[in-house]
Amino acid sequence: MSDPQAPLDAPLDAPLDALVAAAGVAMAKAYAPYSRFPVGAAILGGSGRIHAGANVENAAYPQGQCAEASAIGAMVLAGDRHIRAVVVMGGQPGDGRLCTPCGGCRQRLREFAKPDTPIHVCGPDGLRRTFTLEELLPHSFGPDNLDF
Ligand code: THU
Repeated sequence: MSDPQAPLDAPLDAPLDALVAAAGVAMAKAYAPYSRFPVGAAILGGSGRIHAGANVENAAYPQGQCAEASAIGAMVLAGDRHIRAVVVMGGQPGDGRLCTPCGGCRQRLREFAKPDTPIHVCGPDGLRRTFTLEELLPHSFGPDNLDF
């Protein structure tokens, strides 16, 4: 495991392939009986560790939780407070559509990420497009607005 104090712009410990693989494993474990749209997310934390999560739906539909929210919960529980890279995986192989993070999850990621943090959008067949958080959530409100 890498040094938790390492600067956040240090080279990634985990290659993108490892993040994509973790998101794929998480996607396969999603609980999505209502939408039938499983999503997996994998976060590379400041420590260099990978934290994964999947969407967890609920019969009371609004209570469902997105994959990114699950992954953030796992990250915080593991002691990481910084997001260095994110992979979100959803959709069908070859459909080409982008499973970009929903609006709420963009804001959730914003809490722990930087404007230039890469968000890699994947299908089960691999990487489709990479955005920065700033591209997905411009002019965002974050901890710095509250002097944190
Ligand atoms: N979903 C996610 O997990 N992350 C997103 O950013 C987009 C949507 C989930 C929520 C719901 O369980 C399913 O995808 C269909 O909306």
